[in-house]
Amino acid sequence: MPDPMRPPVSRAALRTAVVWEVLQDALDRRVKATGRESLDVLDTGGGSGNFAVPLARLGHRVTVVDPSPNALFALERRAAEAGVAERVRGVQGDAHGLFDVVERGGYDAVLCHGVLEYVDDPAEGVRNAVAALRPEGVLSLLAAGLGGAVLARALAGHFKEARQALGDPDGRWGEGDPVPRRFTAEQLTALAEGAGLRVGAIHGVRVFADLVPGVLVDTEPGALDALLQLESAAAELPAFHSVATQLHVLASL
Ligand SMILES: C[S@@+](CC[C@H](N)C(=O)[O-])C[C@H]1O[C@@H](n2cnc3c(N)ncnc32)[C@H](O)[C@@H]1O
Repeated sequence: MPDPMRPPVSRAALRTAVVWEVLQDALDRRVKATGRESLDVLDTGGGSGNFAVPLARLGHRVTVVDPSPNALFALERRAAEAGVAERVRGVQGDAHGLFDVVERGGYDAVLCHGVLEYVDDPAEGVRNAVAALRPEGVLSLLAAGLGGAVLARALAGHFKEARQALGDPDGRWGEGDPVPRRFTAEQLTALAEGAGLRVGAIHGVRVFADLVPGVLVDTEPGALDALLQLESAAAELPAFHSVATQLHVLASL
């Protein structure tokens, strides 16, 4: 049976491979430490299940909390198609009112991927995610990186917007920017530590993937695989954190 965490190399896999690798290692360590075969995972803002469904395919029980009924509907369908409906629970709710819908201290791991950009209060979002963890639980935090956006705007020739993002308190490049907030590695670290976590690892995600013209990747044999390996090698080097499209922080209680 194919390993759901290691899909064939594709453009989509390129965008998430680094996060999967770090997350799977962290969950494997929790499985060993707890002596249980599977874990209880909470995916806050988990949307249509990009992470939840593959995690359920690994045998974990995943609760997805998301405010979007459409996303939850897509999640339900996807989980059913993957044959893991009994291990995926979708609940309508948000990061602010998390404990209106899930139990405090009930999860071995909490995912907060692509959500801190959108919540009203990121510090509260992280504090709630931490309060959902069991002792020694792990938090997987993924958020848009400031430097990656600045670099992308500049390389597209939008120099004023790049400059604007650089000086903006939320890292936004203008009124038309669809992302409400971006972060530096230092800001994400401070959020995690401020909520009482110990940061174990920081990775830069999509350092090159969004900048390389598709034609270079799609036409050259082996290029996608080589780019994947380059992303993986660069991800943990602090020098590349400041230009990554996204930043991933793995932290634990
Ligand atoms: C960029 S998507 C990320 C989806 C998923 N986590 C992933 O990585 O594929 C952002 C998700 O956050 C959800 N969201 C927006 N505001 C939220 C809030 N205040 N609390 C929790 N989730 C929220 C959206 O409905 C959406 O599903």
